[in-house]
Amino acid sequence: MKLSYLIRGLPGHPLHPPLTDATIGTYTVATVLGFASIVGIAEKGAAAGWWLALIVGLILTVPTALSGFAEWLTIEWGTPLWRTATSHMLAMVTATTLFLIAALIGHSGYKHGAVDAGPYVVTLLGYGTLTLGGWLGGAVVFVHGMRVLNLVTEPATRAASPVPKPEKEAAEGA
Ligand code: HEM
Repeated sequence: MKLSYLIRGLPGHPLHPPLTDATIGTYTVATVLGFASIVGIAEKGAAAGWWLALIVGLILTVPTALSGFAEWLTIEWGTPLWRTATSHMLAMVTATTLFLIAALIGHSGYKHGAVDAGPYVVTLLGYGTLTLGGWLGGAVVFVHGMRVLNLVTEPATRAASPVPKPEKEAAEGA
């Protein structure tokens, strides 16, 4: 067991992607509930949910960004992959900053039970930037192929195992 497995996940089962699912999902909930409050559907409850989802999203961002940063450190500087991954990082840092601003300036809306227009516009800007960052993150994986093993004929049981065969053989010096 390598130490990097704890921070970056296992070969074929990296840590960053599942964490991004939780983070993006939570910001999606915030954006939908903010809309529900703005248009008057369950205004009070939706306003509380919007703000709480922003806070949970910001908390989830910490391990998500740390695992992404651990991946980014392994990339050779100045390469096309590095440029795409660095653009992804900048987009995600910007999105996080926007969500943080929305939570800070929107706290009074949470307290009086209605999302104000300003904080919601900032939430939407954050969500747009998050989507752009997700697109770039997808390019890192699905265009550049980072962390993809591409073992097309790997038997299903080994594919689901924590360490697929080629990595195991390399570790055992086969
Ligand atoms: C809110 C924070 C972040 C979110 C939501 C996020 C989201 C994503 C997504 C959606 C992908 C594509 C994975 C897939 O489609 O399965 C990805 C990949 C990646 N991200 Fe992030 N990211 C975040 C922060 C960061 C940061 C701060 C860095 C670098 C400092 C980073 C570096 C990477 C790298 C290197 C990959 C490709 C390798 C991998 O998926 O493990 N990410 N990210």
